[in-house]
Amino acid sequence: MSVSVLFALLFYVATLLFVAGLARKIVQYAKTPAPLKIPTTPAPTTQSGVVLRMAREVVLFESLFKSNKWIWIFGYMFHISLALVLLRHFRYFQADVWTVIELVQPFGKYAGFAMVAGLLGLWARRIFVERIRYITGLSDHLILALLVGIGISGLSMKYVHHTDIITVKTFFLGLLRFNIQPLPSDPNLLIHLSLVATLMIIFPISKLLHAPGVFFSPTRNQVENPRERRHVAPWAAELDK
Ligand code: HEM
Repeated sequence: MSVSVLFALLFYVATLLFVAGLARKIVQYAKTPAPLKIPTTPAPTTQSGVVLRMAREVVLFESLFKSNKWIWIFGYMFHISLALVLLRHFRYFQADVWTVIELVQPFGKYAGFAMVAGLLGLWARRIFVERIRYITGLSDHLILALLVGIGISGLSMKYVHHTDIITVKTFFLGLLRFNIQPLPSDPNLLIHLSLVATLMIIFPISKLLHAPGVFFSPTRNQVENPRERRHVAPWAAELDK
């Protein structure tokens, strides 16, 4: 089997597991009852206030900022850079690249370095801070290693040994049309892509689920109105019938 066919199959399988796994988890989160009224106070007293609070949490990592400045600095650096890097990658999946994706290109390039620096900061904390080392498991190290590996292999294509990005783009546009095209076989590209497929496969069964999970967190998504309205979880209402 050629490298192109192997990677085409790998990406079809990884995409299926990623999308189906994530959808399954989101449905599960949405159905999980929240029996108690437990917003972390002081909390908003209106629904629009909750939306604003959640937006600040997702865009600024507000509660992390309040609790730990070091983790916030490295965590924020990593996530913002990751967003820029991912936006920059959109060009491989669009025949006509949107203007916003073109505009992000120069930033995305440097974001690659910031992404790896943020990850190394978060990793150092798991190794050198005694309290954090105590609660760190093997999977925490492996996920950090995976993300650092993706970043370094990506940067190696940009700065050490170029791959043919036009052919890479033709390959991925081909996948979207179920038409397998040749993929360059440079080792750093194949390593980058294998690690990315691994990330997609483990995503729905790992702590990376905190990305969709934050939206379902009762301490963040509840309105603080226990005096105005009695809180009854949907399943409890069923029992009352
Ligand atoms: C199927 C998905 C992906 C493809 C086809 C892909 C492909 C590439 C290619 C061809 C480059 C070299 C860019 C250049 O030479 O200008 C690159 C760089 C990079 N990739 Fe990916 N990649 C993918 C997913 C990811 C993901 C999910 C991440 C992060 C978690 C990532 C992180 C990076 C970084 C940090 C760089 C270096 C900075 C840059 O050039 O943007 N890649 N990737």
